[in-house]
Parts: sequence; structure tokens; C-alpha cells
Amino acid sequence: ERKWSTPLAKQLAAAIETTGPVPLASYMRMCLTADIGGYYTGAIEEGRDQFGLKGDFVTSPEISQVFGELCGIWFVAEWMAQGRQSQGVELIEVGPGRGTLMDDMLRTIQRFPAMASSIDAIYMVEASPALRMAQKNLLCGENAPMTESKVGYHSVCKYNALPIVWTETIKSIPMAPEKMPFIMAHEFFDALPIHAFQLVSVPATQRNPPAPSDTASPSTKTSHPTLEWREMLVSPTPPGSTHDSLRTPPSQSRDTPPPDFQLTLAKAPTRHSLYLPESSPRYRALKTGSTSPTGHPTPGALLEICPDAALYAADFAARIGGSAAHPKPRPSGAALVLDYGPGDGSVPTNSLRGIRRHRRVSPFAEPGLTDLSADVDFAALAEAAVRASPGVEVHGPVCQADFLELMGIAERVGVLCRAAAARGHGDKAEAVRRACRRLVDRGPGGM
Ligand SMILES: C[S@@+](CC[C@H](N)C(=O)[O-])C[C@H]1O[C@@H](n2cnc3c(N)ncnc32)[C@H](O)[C@@H]1O
Repeated sequence: ERKWSTPLAKQLAAAIETTGPVPLASYMRMCLTADIGGYYTGAIEEGRDQFGLKGDFVTSPEISQVFGELCGIWFVAEWMAQGRQSQGVELIEVGPGRGTLMDDMLRTIQRFPAMASSIDAIYMVEASPALRMAQKNLLCGENAPMTESKVGYHSVCKYNALPIVWTETIKSIPMAPEKMPFIMAHEFFDALPIHAFQLVSVPATQRNPPAPSDTASPSTKTSHPTLEWREMLVSPTPPGSTHDSLRTPPSQSRDTPPPDFQLTLAKAPTRHSLYLPESSPRYRALKTGSTSPTGHPTPGALLEICPDAALYAADFAARIGGSAAHPKPRPSGAALVLDYGPGDGSVPTNSLRGIRRHRRVSPFAEPGLTDLSADVDFAALAEAAVRASPGVEVHGPVCQADFLELMGIAERVGVLCRAAAARGHGDKAEAVRRACRRLVDRGPGGM
């Protein structure tokens, strides 16, 4: 019998044997958040987590407190600019990791007592039970009890005894017109599952039923090859595969067993390939070629779409700006999304990454033990937000370095370094400077 690299790989292979190859999004969802053996929900060994030197990756809030402080200041500035509402403010964080970012933001907001006292509740959207506990311990104390209700898990924060509620999805957080939500999403969207498609030239004889946008006349349909989006699906690699036979790219470390799975192109349209690439003018333009420099579409072109990201962006927008289902007398609140992705409005392609112990590995090696992420399509988030709510404005994206510099990182680092030096801790001052240089490094070594 074939040996699979992880129990999750075995389970996935058994499922694929019954259903046939699965969409990349289904594979990603299982690898990251499956009840048993998902990367965030269970596979990590006792005493180890995903973050830091001993883990798989480092995130900006874990590098320096200054990151969370400046995000906190951004929300304070929004609260002031929107009229300093004295109650009904909610802080919502999606994907809060170890809770460090929320802790740094809350500590900063305490310096603005009028805003601090306007906060009614804190909500944390977290899929991982272990990280939920780490967040509770940091924000409420190790001995603080956590209780369970229909909505989620509850505890009381060490700052102002604010109630904190943990939910598994944002949909579980109540929406009310008088609330002013401030929503933080740092390295969350890149963990949401993507679908991947390729534009293929299909001979007239193999033509499948036309896609909804296909307006070609019946005569042209039968005579010329046409372009169709085909979905990339995940299936097991052939037994006995090696890194060489699978041509694992040199950019990916081979310190893992050979990948258990591989991407293959669907031979026929799938439910997703018929619908998702037709769901936005940006994707449709790739098929017509209207935005390409040649004016023609490129056979072989790739496209990644993250429906969950659009759902989250639409939810943020409805909370802030109101929607038909959840009207609001006036828009209030803000969301700050920081993540990896193209800043020029282009659609991400070929961006799925596997990370293990700080190295790039195949995303199909050791499923459940490998972190998976993909570039965030900021333009798609903006499109989903404005479509969901007429009351929201979208700004950006700008690169993280520009954001932090405009928010005053140099000034804050100066204050921290002078304080460290005054206490005779010159080495600490240097460490603060080094960490913050990394946060604004625009090169490959930066965040
Ligand atoms: C890369 S970590 C980022 C953590 C944190 N924001 C930071 O910057 O340190 C991703 C976080 O999102 C959570 N997460 C991933 N997928 C999720 C999902 N589908 N629903 C809810 N939380 C999710 C993970 O458990 C983790 O807390």
C-alpha cells in the first residue's frame, strides 16, 4: 500500500479516489483548516506553533510592537475623523495569530481614553483552537475563564474589562446599524482558499456548452477553436514519484518527501470554471484580450480567484457602509487590510506558496504540516466591497513601507531608542532599529 506523507494526505487521497480530482480551493481549505490535521487546526506538534524562529514563518507584529502601535493609531485617527462616536465602537480582527497585534493596538488605544471608553466589545475571528487559547491567555490572562455560547467563546480582556468574543467566521458576529466597526486583517486573506484557472484553446469539435457571456453566433461557434477557462484540479502524484520526476522547481526546497499531489488541468469545464471567471469584468477582459497589450487574449493565461476573500470584503463593507439587507443611517467604521499581493491591480497568477520552517517548499508536500498561502487580489476585494455597499470608499493599496512611514514609524522608533539608551540599553535600541528596518524594507528581505 502507498505510504502518504501525513494522515491528511491519506484522507485526501481516499476522498479523491471517490470523487475524482478536487478544486485547488478544496485542497487548500482541507490543508489549512480541516478539523483533523489542518495546518491551523490541528497538525502542529505539542509545544510548537506556526510563528517565530522555531515555527514556519514570522509576521510583522511578531517582529516589532511598533507595527501594531501604528495600526492602532490609524484606527484612532479614523475614529477622530468620523466624529469621535462615544459608544458602539467594535474592534474586530480576522486571523489574529498569537494575539500580539490586537494587544499592541489595544495598549496604544488606551492612550486615547475617549476612544478606549467608546469600545463596546472585541471580536476575534479565529479557526484555530490552539491560537484562540494563546490569544485568550495574552489578552485576558492565563487564569481568565473562557465560556462557550451559541455565538462562540467568551472572555474578559485585561484592558478596561472589555468583553472579547471568538467566532470561527465573521458571519457569526452580530451586525447592528449603530455600531462603528474597526476591522483589522493582517496576513489573513492570503490564507483563504483560491481557485485557479487556465485559458485553453478548444477545437470546435470539443466545444462544450457556451459560457454565460458567450455571444458568438452559432456559425462561428462551430467553425473556429475557441478559448475556454479550465480549472486546475488536485490529484495524487503517480506512485513512486520523486522530486526529479515531478520536476520540483529549484526555488522550492527538496527537504520534504516528494509531493503527494499535483495540479492537473480539468479536461472539461467545471461548475467553477463556468461561473467564477465570468463574475467580474476584470476576468472577462483576460478572455477577450481587451486589456492585453496586443489586444488579443493569451492562450495559456492563468487566473486565480478567491471567492471567500470577496465574501469577507463584502461583509466588512456591509458592516461599515450598510447594505440592502443591513441598512445603516450613515456609514461608520473602517477596515485595514495588510497582505501580500500585486499593488498594480493585476490579477494574481501562479502564486500558491508552501512554507515550512522558513523555506519555500512544494505546496503539495506534507499537506497539513505545510503552510499554504496565495497572493491577495486587492482589486477584487475593492470590487466586492463597493458592490456590497454604496456607503464605502476604498483606498489603496499602498506598500507596507509607505504606510508605516506615513504613520510615523521613524518618529516612534526614535522615541523607543532614546528611552532604551537613557536606561543604558544601547543593545535594545539597536534591536528596535533593526526590527523596524525589516518592516519597511522594500527588498526581498523585507516583510
Ligand atoms: C498567517 S497567520 C496571521 C496572524 C496574525 N494576523 C499576525 O500577523 O501575526 C493567519 C491567521 O489566520 C487564521 N486563519 C487562517 N485561515 C482562517 C479561516 N479560514 N478562518 C479563520 N481564521 C483563519 C490562522 O489561524 C491565523 O490566526
